[in-house]
Amino acid sequence: MTTGGDADTWGYNGALLGPTLRVRSGEQIRVNVRNDLDEATTVHWHGMRLPAACDGGPHQKIEPGATWSPTWKVFQPGATLWYHPHPHGSTEVHVYRGLGGMLLVDDDETTSEHLPHRYGQDDIPLIVQDKTFDEFGKFVEADRRGVGMLGTTLLVNGAVGPTFQVTSELTRFRLLNASTARSYSFGFSDDRPFHIIASDGGLLDAPVSVDRVRLTPAERVEIVVRMAPGERVVLHSYPQDLGAPGIPTGADDQFDVLPLIAAGKLRPSPQLPHRLTRVRRLDPGTAVATRDFELRSDRINDEHMDMARIDQVVTVDTVEIWHVTNVSLVPHNFHVHGMQFQVVSVDEQPPPAELAGWKDTVFAPPGVQLRLVMRFAKYSDPDLPYMYHCHLLWHEDAGVMGQFVVV
Ligand code: C2O
Ligand code: CU
Repeated sequence: MTTGGDADTWGYNGALLGPTLRVRSGEQIRVNVRNDLDEATTVHWHGMRLPAACDGGPHQKIEPGATWSPTWKVFQPGATLWYHPHPHGSTEVHVYRGLGGMLLVDDDETTSEHLPHRYGQDDIPLIVQDKTFDEFGKFVEADRRGVGMLGTTLLVNGAVGPTFQVTSELTRFRLLNASTARSYSFGFSDDRPFHIIASDGGLLDAPVSVDRVRLTPAERVEIVVRMAPGERVVLHSYPQDLGAPGIPTGADDQFDVLPLIAAGKLRPSPQLPHRLTRVRRLDPGTAVATRDFELRSDRINDEHMDMARIDQVVTVDTVEIWHVTNVSLVPHNFHVHGMQFQVVSVDEQPPPAELAGWKDTVFAPPGVQLRLVMRFAKYSDPDLPYMYHCHLLWHEDAGVMGQFVVV
C-alpha cells in the first residue's frame, strides 16, 4: 500500500486502486499486505468464503509499517470479487482515496471457451467510481447527505474519460460499483439488449437479457455485449428510481461511463451457451433460524455498530433465513461477510432472474423487505466475528453494521 503523488491518492502497489488478483478455485493462497500508510487500515476480501481471521474486517487491523499475511484455501465457484479497506469508522475515506481492486476467482466454467475469457481483450474489468476534484486535481471529500458523498466525475479503472477498442464480436465486462455511495443503472446509449451472465458470487444458471442493470455500492455483475464491425456505442449510467424521492441519492444523474469503438474487423466469438452453470439452490425449508434486521440511517435493530458487542451467534454448517427490512427513508443495501447468499424474495415476490444467483450485497430500498437464505459453511471461530452492514460507506461508518460469530 502506498501513497500517490500529486493527487494525494492511495493505492495498492501503486498510486491508485490495485492490481487485479486472480486465483483458482481450490487453490491455497497467501497474500502479504504491508501498510505503508501512516495510519492503520485493513484489507477485506469482499465476497470470499474464508475463515474470519483472514476476512480483513475491522478486527484485522494492520498498523503502519506492519505486514499482514492471511492464507486460506479458495473454496467457492468462479466469481468477480474485490478487495478494499475496512477500518472501523474510516472505511469511506480509505476507499474514496483510492484503495480497492478486483479479485477474480476462476474455475473451469468461468474461463470456459464458450465465454469471452481473454483478460484485457474480450474480458474486461470495469471499476466504476465517482469523485469530485478541486481546481488542483485533488480528490475533494465532499459533503455527505442522504446516501453519502456523491462525486461529479466518473472514473473507470481510475481513469477519467477512457474509451475501449472492441476487437471481438462479444465482449465480457466485469462491472464493479466501487463508489462509496452512488448507485448506477447501466445500459447502452442505443438501448441495445445485453446479457447478464454472473452476479456477485458467480455465474447465473443462464444468461439473462436486459437493457439496464442496477449496481448499488459493492455489487458486481458480468455482462456480455455484442458489437458489429465499425460500430460505436456508449456504456452509460441512466437516471433510476431508488425509491427515495426528495432525498439526495444521485438517482437523477447520468454519466457516460465508457465509449466502445469496434474495429472494422472483429474476431469471431462463440455463441453464448444457453446454460452457464447449475446454481445449487439453498432450500429455505432447511433453515434452522430466522433473524430480523431493520436498517436505519445509523443503526441496525436500534444498535450502532460496536466492535466489542457480538450481535448474532450462528451455527456452522446450518442454513438460516435473514429477513432484512429498510425501515428508513433513504436507500441502503445489505452485505454479509464470509459467504454468498441467495435472495428468496423481495417484498414477498420472487427476485428477478439477475438476482437469483449467488449474491453478497443486495439493494434495500426504503420500505422494502428482503428475505435472504444463507449457509454458514465450513469455518467457525467463537472469538472473531464477521460483519454484516450497509455498503453505502458513510452509513456503514455511522454504525449501520453488526457482527456475527459462527460457532
Ligand atoms: Cu465490501 Cu464489509 O465490505
Ligand atoms: Cu445505508
